[in-house]
Amino acid sequence: MPLAYMPGFGNDFETEALPGALPQGQNSPQRAPYGLYAEQLSGSPFTAPRGTNERSWLYRIRPSVKHSGRYAATALPDWKSAPHIGEHNLPLGQLRWDPVPMPSTPTTFLEGMRTVTTAGDVHTQVGMASHVYVANKDMEDEFFFNSDGELLIVPQEGRIEVATELGIMEVSPKEICVIPRGMIFRVRLPDGVARGYACENYGAKFTLPDRGPIGANCLANPRDFKTPVAAFEDKDGRCRLVVKWCGEFHETTLEASPLDVIAWHGNYAPYKYDLTTFSPVGAILFDHPDPSIFTVLTAPSGEEGTANIDFVIFPERWMVAEHSFRPPWYHRNIMSEFMGLICGQYDAKEEGFVPGGMSLHNMMLPHGPDATGFEKASRADLKPVKLTDTMAFMFETRFPQHLTRFAAELDTLQDSYLDCWTPLKKRFDGTLEGNWD
Ligand SMILES: [Fe+2]
Repeated sequence: MPLAYMPGFGNDFETEALPGALPQGQNSPQRAPYGLYAEQLSGSPFTAPRGTNERSWLYRIRPSVKHSGRYAATALPDWKSAPHIGEHNLPLGQLRWDPVPMPSTPTTFLEGMRTVTTAGDVHTQVGMASHVYVANKDMEDEFFFNSDGELLIVPQEGRIEVATELGIMEVSPKEICVIPRGMIFRVRLPDGVARGYACENYGAKFTLPDRGPIGANCLANPRDFKTPVAAFEDKDGRCRLVVKWCGEFHETTLEASPLDVIAWHGNYAPYKYDLTTFSPVGAILFDHPDPSIFTVLTAPSGEEGTANIDFVIFPERWMVAEHSFRPPWYHRNIMSEFMGLICGQYDAKEEGFVPGGMSLHNMMLPHGPDATGFEKASRADLKPVKLTDTMAFMFETRFPQHLTRFAAELDTLQDSYLDCWTPLKKRFDGTLEGNWD
């Protein structure tokens, strides 16, 4: 059966997988329908202001205390949390990698999570981590929840089926999904293999950016976000629950599937979003706006205009600016930029940045178009041009991103990345035109 979703961002949803399972008119009846247990899952403090107050009421076969038990330490050695500094000897620099190789042994989504950078501090709920996942094995009778943050997943190759307590999402490359902090889920791989990126947000939840003078429409529109309808498993049998909590991993054995929520209502819920529904706004006469114009989701830090994380995309679009250098300009940024390429080619790099690859331009380190890109853009006939078949993205944070040893020692790290700027010539010769020979 095709999966069903409810449209809207941050809505107060309600859904039931069996008729009459959702109590009406109250949250906690003396006896809930079907003998279900009523349970609240809080995504914000009880007393958070109305605009940021998030919780959902779950009606489930067993309460969560029955989907818990005595925990034992376990390990996911490639999944790191901030603060995590200094386990490698790679000097400071602008960095770029070819794709992380697919695993050669059976590897689940959980086992295949490899942290590239960490920022901030998981213990104080600020900052984030950038990960890549590579997987070739379904999670079977195995479930996970992350107390440390919500997880934004960006598939690059292969679909993922994310079965959560609140419903099931199938997410393809060029789509994303967000799984709230604390929500139990399982990932299967409909295509057998999967690779992608993930942003673990330790701080306040992702929300839609304000549009300012753009007005009420464009960029990511709320109706294009999809939250799954209720779906449940009534499945007895031993299974494993893994928990991430303050950077450590713990596991316990359960007697039944924890995905047993038959009905729920509320605004604390997973969602997915098709990046091709993003309606870009950009230069229609001259110059190049700041890349913040492409922000899909922003996670506020508490300081206005200074995001804990911005999730930004570079989608298909028309380039029409007159008498302008059209690619992104050279710059240095107080924010730190982790980029990935889902498909196609990124407009500031002619070669070397390939789908599945990634780059890191950390706080205050200069970057911009490679020499070939600069030459082409400086001499281009400025007709309208459509950038097609491309989707790059950025996890940008106010905090410096510290590299893990995995990323520093990864075979696909490009020794020659800095060479992309080497051929840039001195054009200054004292004349107004400069020397363009
Ligand atoms: Fe940048």
